[in-house]
Order: sequence, then structure tokens, then C-alpha cells
Amino acid sequence: MTTAYPPMPAVLEGSALVEAYMARTTGSARLAERGRTLFPSGITHDARYIEPHGIYVTHTEGSHKWDVDGNEYVDYPGGHGALLLGHSHPEVVQAVTEQVSKGVHYGANSELELEWAELIQKLVPGAERVRFTNSGTEATMLSLRLARAATGRPKIMRLTGHFHGWHDYAASGFLGQFDGGPARGVPEDVARSVVLAEPGDLTEAERLFDDDIAAVILEPTGSIWGQVPLAPEYVRGLRELTAKRGALLIFDEVISGFRCSPGGAQQALGVTADLVSLGKIVAGGLAGAAVTGRADVLEGMDFRRAATEGAEKVFHMGTYNAAPTTCAAGIAGLRLVDTTDACQRAINYGNGLIDALNEMFAAEAVSWIAYGTFGGFHVFLNPEQITTDRQRIESGEHDRATMKIAVPPAVSLKLRIGMLLNGVDIQGWPGAPISAAHTDADCDQTVEAFRQTIYALRREGDLP
Ligand SMILES: Cc1ncc(COP(=O)(O)O)c(C=O)c1O
Repeated sequence: MTTAYPPMPAVLEGSALVEAYMARTTGSARLAERGRTLFPSGITHDARYIEPHGIYVTHTEGSHKWDVDGNEYVDYPGGHGALLLGHSHPEVVQAVTEQVSKGVHYGANSELELEWAELIQKLVPGAERVRFTNSGTEATMLSLRLARAATGRPKIMRLTGHFHGWHDYAASGFLGQFDGGPARGVPEDVARSVVLAEPGDLTEAERLFDDDIAAVILEPTGSIWGQVPLAPEYVRGLRELTAKRGALLIFDEVISGFRCSPGGAQQALGVTADLVSLGKIVAGGLAGAAVTGRADVLEGMDFRRAATEGAEKVFHMGTYNAAPTTCAAGIAGLRLVDTTDACQRAINYGNGLIDALNEMFAAEAVSWIAYGTFGGFHVFLNPEQITTDRQRIESGEHDRATMKIAVPPAVSLKLRIGMLLNGVDIQGWPGAPISAAHTDADCDQTVEAFRQTIYALRREGDLP
């Protein structure tokens, strides 16, 4: 049954900013209309949802991308965080191009997968064994299964607001269902097997812990790419708690891996987890991911060991696991992480951008605060105008409720549009990962785009 497609949100009606964006992106508007006849909301990933429509991109290079209307943008989403090295790094392009002509799928083992895994072992602390998957979602799902298998316990502890992909065990407690109830479409029993703890509160984690909990999984630098930062002492506390209670600690390093340091958050925080879920950067921009960590846990998947021990092997498959082209991209990308200062360059750019944004926010007298430590930036839109600063936010002083307080939709929707109109594509929260390819000129343009967007929001009465 077809019903009329709903109109754009009323808060965007009559906005000069939105009208200017529509005039600049007429080709994208046409494609978006076609997209809505094919996909819900016209999109293929919820994070690409933009009102009144997103841009349709034709090509990318380094830190920039171009849309069908010929507009050029400083690109921050960076392949949703996969492209630490920027778009089309020549060494990655060459490795993938050469591999495509040799074969994209062997349906068998290849030496490439050994090389890729050896690089992971070299870079990631505690990577005694590796299993490749196709996405970060699969990697966290497998990590949870391995933990339940290793401990014989049925439950998982997660931190409210932490993102681990879209599977059933990770769905509640991310955008809603903070009481632990099932997200729409998720079986109640699955939701009941997940215990949600408020991030940053070790006493609560201790109180909620019971002997049915197989593992605690978290984004070690804080939820949603470090948007609600965690104090390192808290992460160390979880390490001690899990060890004391015979449970596993799982770091979801799908975003922080190879980004906050070549060895990820484990190296940056000096905490070694039992299992680590990797994604994004690990596969050089292609669709690949991995679980790594303790040999005894990963060997739950080992055929001979299971037969010897008379145990059931932990089940795991995946048509595209370690496909040769993905291996080639992963090897090229991780070699660059290993042998260049790519991580540090992205972190340094982030620090410079955050300082420049905070200077501009102060000069323009807005209460927004830029922050971020690990090769990414966030902007706290501070709707209640609380008194705080970058350092206090990054230390993990503020709880989730403070950092995630609702922002008026007119501001969040128009901010994204205002940035695009000024040639900068960020993520919606607002913030973004940063690549090693971003330049000083990109930084200046980003600050100016925020400034012009602030002016536009003020003109439309959406910002004091
Ligand atoms: C921390 C974290 N975990 C898991 C995922 C899911 O990864 P994927 O989108 O590859 O399934 C993401 C993706 O953004 C992520 O940031």
C-alpha cells in the first residue's frame, strides 16, 4: 500500500538557509526523490539521514569530495571513520587494483590473510589470535558469542549509549530503551540477557554485576566515538571488576582501533582487554573487520581443539571473511599506520581544529564547546548553557544525561545543512572523525563554515 510521502520537518519550512541549500543541490534533490521510491527515507544507512535531503557524491580525493551538482566539500565522515589515511591513498588503491585482477574471492585460504593478521598482531596488544568478519557489527556479535561460550554464562553487560553496531544484543539502550526493554523488533529474551550500566559509574557496574555476566563490552574512549568521554580510571576499574568476577572485558575498537594510537585504545589507555572488536580502519576502507584477543577464547572456534576436548565448536562463518581484495586493502592500510605518523597527524589536526573552533565560539559568544581527544572532534551544543570547558568534558566529568541533552531539532538539522552549504560535510551529532589527509586550509574552511552557520541560525532566530 502506498501513502503520500510525509513532508520535511515543519521546523525547516520557510528557512532561507534550507532554501539556499536546496538551490545549491538540485541534482541531489532529484536523486533523493528517486531514492525515496527505493529505500526507506531514500538512504542506505541511518547515519546518512539528512533533511531535506543529503548530497549524492560522485568522487573523492584526499580529504575532499564532490557532489552531482559539482559542489566541493571538505569531507569528515571519511567512510564513516574507515579512512584514516584519507580517500584513495595511492598505496591502498594500488594494492586493491592489483589484487582485483588476481581474483576477488578464492573460496580458499591465501597468504594475504596471514600477512593481514600478522600486522594486527604486531599493532594490537594481546592479539594472540584473529578471526576476520565483514563488519564491525559482526565483530561485536562474535565477541559476545565467544565470551558466552568461554565462560558458560548467558548475559552481557553493556554501557548505556555505547554503540556496537545494529545487531539484537546491541540495539536496546543506544538511542532509547534506556530501561533495558527491547528495541522494536528485538526479542524480549535477548534484551533481558543484556544488563545496561550507566557509563562512568563503577559503583553501579559493581552493584549490577552478577555471576551470569559473561563479559562487559564498551567503547573504551567513550560512547559514540568518544562523544561522552570516559575517565581512564573507570575503564581500569572495569578491567579489575571483570577479572575479579571471572568475566571477560571486551573493547569495541571498531572506531578507536588504529585511530587513537597505532595500537588503539588499549595502547593509549594502557589497558589490555580479553577480546577486541576491530572494524573500519583495519580493512583499509573496504568491508572487513575482525575479532582478536586471548588465544584460549578465540580457540573456542578451533575444530581440533573442540574434538580433543569433546566440546562443541563455537559456530562462525561468513562468505566474505578475509576476501583477498579486503586483505590487500587491510595490509596496505595497516602498513601505513605502522610505518607513518598517520594517527598522530589526525590527532594533531583535531587538536588544532578544536582550539580554533573554541576561539571562534568564544569570539562569537555562543556557548558551544568543541572537544575530542582521539583523532576526532565533537561539538557540545550546550542548549542549557552550563558552565564547562573542553578539559572538563574530556576528563569524563559530565555524565551521559548532560552530554546528550536534547538539542532543538531546528538547530541540529540546520547546523548540518549550514555546514554543507559552506562546503563542509560533518556527521550529525555534530562532530566527525579526522583523517591524516586534512590540511590547514581544511581547518580554516571548517571554522568559517561553523561561523557562517552560527550567523544563519541567529538570523533565523534559532540561536541566542
Ligand atoms: C564502536 C562501533 N562499533 C561497532 C560499529 C559497527 O560497525 P559496522 O558499521 O561496520 O557494522 C561501529 C560503526 O560505526 C562503531 O563505531
